[in-house]
Amino acid sequence: MDQEKMALHLVLFWSWLCASVLFGLPFTPTLDLDVTPRTTVLFKGLLGGRWFSSSTQNYTTLLLEDTAGVLYVGARSAIFSLDTRDITAEGSSHMIKWEVPTGQKLQCLNKGRDNQTECFNHIRFLQRFNETHLYVCGTHAFRPLCTYIDTDHFTMASGFEDGREKCPYDPTKGYTGLFVDGEMYTASQYDFRSTPDIRRNYPYPVVKTEEGPIRWLLEANFVGSALVRESVNSSIGDDDKIYFFFTERNQEQTPFFSQTRVARVARVCKGDWGGQRTLQKKWTSFLKARLVCSIPDYEFHLNVLHSVFLVEVQPAQNSIFYGVFGLERMNVKTSAICQYSIKNVQKVFDGPFMETQESKWTEYMGKVPEPRPGSCITDAFRAKGINSSRDLPDEVLNFARRHPLMSRHVRPQQERPLLLKRNVGYTQIAVHRVRALDGQSYHVLFIGTDEGWLHRAVEVRGRVHIIEELQLFEKPQPVDRLVISQSQRSIYIGSPTGVLQLPLSTCGRYTSCFNCVFARDPFCGWNGSACIDIESQPGRSSLIQDVLNGNRGCKNTTEGPTVSRIRSVMAGDDVLLQCELRSNLAVPQWMFNNHELQGYGLDSGFRVGTDGLLLIGARAEQSGCYVCFAMENGVRVLAANYTVWVRSEAAQPALFPATERPLPSPPIPPGPMPLPQTFRNMETVYISMVAILGGLCFVLTVVLLYVSFCVHTNRRRKQGSARNERKCSAHLELKTISSRCNGERAERDDCIAGETTVEGLLQIVPGEGQSSPSKDSLPPAPPLPAPPPLPSTEYSNGLSATLPSVLRKMNGNSYVLLRQTDPETTSPLYYSFTEELNRILEKRKHTQLVTSQPDESSV
Ligand SMILES: *[C@@H]1O[C@H](CO)[C@@H](O)[C@H](O)[C@H]1NC(C)=O
Ligand SMILES: *[C@@H]1O[C@H](CO)[C@@H](O)[C@H](O)[C@H]1NC(C)=O
Ligand SMILES: *[C@@H]1O[C@H](CO)[C@@H](O)[C@H](O)[C@H]1NC(C)=O
Ligand SMILES: *[C@@H]1O[C@H](CO)[C@@H](O)[C@H](O)[C@H]1NC(C)=O
Ligand SMILES: *[C@@H]1O[C@H](CO)[C@@H](O)[C@H](O)[C@H]1NC(C)=O
Ligand SMILES: *[C@@H]1O[C@H](CO)[C@@H](O)[C@H](O)[C@H]1NC(C)=O
Ligand SMILES: *[C@@H]1O[C@H](CO)[C@@H](O)[C@H](O)[C@H]1NC(C)=O
Ligand SMILES: *[C@@H]1O[C@H](CO)[C@@H](O)[C@H](O)[C@H]1NC(C)=O
Repeated sequence: MDQEKMALHLVLFWSWLCASVLFGLPFTPTLDLDVTPRTTVLFKGLLGGRWFSSSTQNYTTLLLEDTAGVLYVGARSAIFSLDTRDITAEGSSHMIKWEVPTGQKLQCLNKGRDNQTECFNHIRFLQRFNETHLYVCGTHAFRPLCTYIDTDHFTMASGFEDGREKCPYDPTKGYTGLFVDGEMYTASQYDFRSTPDIRRNYPYPVVKTEEGPIRWLLEANFVGSALVRESVNSSIGDDDKIYFFFTERNQEQTPFFSQTRVARVARVCKGDWGGQRTLQKKWTSFLKARLVCSIPDYEFHLNVLHSVFLVEVQPAQNSIFYGVFGLERMNVKTSAICQYSIKNVQKVFDGPFMETQESKWTEYMGKVPEPRPGSCITDAFRAKGINSSRDLPDEVLNFARRHPLMSRHVRPQQERPLLLKRNVGYTQIAVHRVRALDGQSYHVLFIGTDEGWLHRAVEVRGRVHIIEELQLFEKPQPVDRLVISQSQRSIYIGSPTGVLQLPLSTCGRYTSCFNCVFARDPFCGWNGSACIDIESQPGRSSLIQDVLNGNRGCKNTTEGPTVSRIRSVMAGDDVLLQCELRSNLAVPQWMFNNHELQGYGLDSGFRVGTDGLLLIGARAEQSGCYVCFAMENGVRVLAANYTVWVRSEAAQPALFPATERPLPSPPIPPGPMPLPQTFRNMETVYISMVAILGGLCFVLTVVLLYVSFCVHTNRRRKQGSARNERKCSAHLELKTISSRCNGERAERDDCIAGETTVEGLLQIVPGEGQSSPSKDSLPPAPPLPAPPPLPSTEYSNGLSATLPSVLRKMNGNSYVLLRQTDPETTSPLYYSFTEELNRILEKRKHTQLVTSQPDESSV
């Protein structure tokens, strides 16, 4: 019955795969953008991290003063001042406690507020006020307050100011605020009853958004704001502008009902003081437009904005910004990164307006009054005697009041997202420009997820390469804030339970020239003996780096093991030759006596998995030299070298010492060999992927038929001899002769285990893999690329748990292993041989231990 279940799973997977090939699902442009992180670094492999936390929670408001070397942190009921060099440094961190008095807390609780989260003082605004003071606002148990902090002594001023107009009541409400030249700008839905508002709180008079006859903002959830100094060197005498980024209720009628919310960018001019009679104390320069982040040709829109990062470029008009987008529906997790230019936003704001009639929005086709409504005051205005927003004619202001929305959309650079990740919930982004050794500046993207991962990626020619994914916390929790320090070359990560400081890069993790170059990390270069931070070496020219292609520069030397490991096995045994690739993008290539091993049907006698080569029922003619290469970026790097000797049954184990090499290994071309240029050609890759998947589909069809045949025969055989089940070759057992254990596995007693069976020898040893972080255990939440928009409900039958990890490997390594026996498992899909072995070992704990020599194994 279990076998039937297994067969059913095979059918499901097979149908999915064939459907994918036939309908081209994985080959839509969407998958193209869903890149796999090159390496996976689990929490215990994190290097150079410093963790700050205290008794409180919600370290969500960060203010970095890089030149002063201080990181201010606003948390729940506390403000911290930390040393940016080392946020954990003893004696250099200071705290101000700012709690809610008990009486007020009771009031808050009596109003039915949550006693665990809401009735505290969540610090939400923390900015430099003047040379000596910070300005800080907290929710203060639903009665916001603001005050000053003396940064010289790190003490709080005695008096408080009412914060109700500056800080939201609700700690989870979208909010953004900034201090610019002594002016305070904030945007939020402050109160439950109030409508959202973008305002300048200070100095007086307060300027706000208009609420009638047209509401300028509809249930807006703000995620960010940024000042762009467009007045500097402006040829038209332009003003500085403040941009606000948010998601709001969609008021336009669209044919797509799912789009109830839309992402927006809005701006106001810094010199705007409102109109004289019309739009008194209201923005005269408020304009908003839709931010589009969608897949071209597919009506697939990511409408919810989660985070924005502005990269300032001189002149300011050339600045660009990155947005992190998600889907409206919470049950499907998909994230995208889109990039926009301020110039483009400006163009949209200079374009046609929308107008509304009976709550229907259409493009305004009539005459636009002069001077153009919604503009900043420029030289052209001044030439007409209009020196400030108060001089604007009523006709212009009336128009502005009724036309806050632009008709055109702000579209991303290249009309598509830079990156699209399925099953990943991005929350925050920060971007750092790095000048690489090729003289070019690259944008390095740091993207945090809702489950506590950080993706470090580099943007190369409009594409994103994810250098690595880092698991930041032991327990999953969202990344709430990211701040980068240029001078400390650190990134600070705010989270619900603390602040983490991490180096911007950890080049030392790459232990070979090829690893260093394949990573394409603009921070890192190979100096001949180590992968180092390029800033740490004055003579940069001697370093090797290739951010553009990730394959050039390394010397033509053999890396990896030049000594062959020896496996001496009995004929008929199954042998696992381990070859774990650290890179998720590398593909294993096996050579047997100088010939490439291809195909892996049941008859071929071997199968290639993500962590090694499995010889099934070894035969004498399979003796020889097996070499594993890692293929990446068109370069082949030696990864493992084995000499396998298959002995006939008659031979006695003791006669064959481990060191003996019965078969001289044939010469094998050394080291890395660049592949033909055409291989790099995307088209070729595309076509070969189709071919591979098509082939895989065929193979699976055969396997399926075969398995169903076996299920049938097995059931008949059950009445007969149960001992003979191994005859059916679909019933796979692993018999491995292997050796060295890695330390961690040795601690568990399943490291070396085995049993002696009637047929002769059976030893199973999983060890010797390099302790690649990604293979020791499954990451609790590695972002998993999956096929294009399949609703999650489609993975029923218990497949959902295992399918993604296999798919991920398919995406990276294009290998999938089918499990063929073990009736206890519900899924036919397996992560790796190691897993498979571990399961078998787990079941064989009772069997006798067979010791083996530390390095080479034998019998
Ligand atoms: C919060 O309220 C729950 C029940 O409403 C109660 O069990 C818990 O002790 C309260 N916690 C605090 C910190 O007051
Ligand atoms: C900064 O502002 C605070 C609070 O208003 C004030 O007490 C202090 O004197 C100011 N400092 C300077 C240098 O202006
Ligand atoms: C403004 O122009 C001056 C002179 O052309 C130049 O030196 C300066 O760097 C420019 N400033 C910016 C921010 O572009
Ligand atoms: C604008 O400023 C110019 C020069 O500063 C002045 O001559 C003119 O009267 C001002 N116009 C208004 C409407 O205030
Ligand atoms: C504060 O942190 C706790 C977990 O420590 C989390 O449950 C809560 O949602 C956080 N609150 C806010 C406002 O972020
Ligand atoms: C490379 O850098 C490492 C670490 O900084 C150093 O120990 C080594 O001497 C350097 N090698 C060369 C060839 O410069
Ligand atoms: C590697 O070296 C061999 C001979 O030493 C040479 O023929 C081959 O072209 C070299 N390959 C590269 C990529 O330098
Ligand atoms: C593998 O090891 C054998 C024996 O040590 C050696 O002759 C052969 O050159 C090695 N192969 C490679 C590709 O290094």
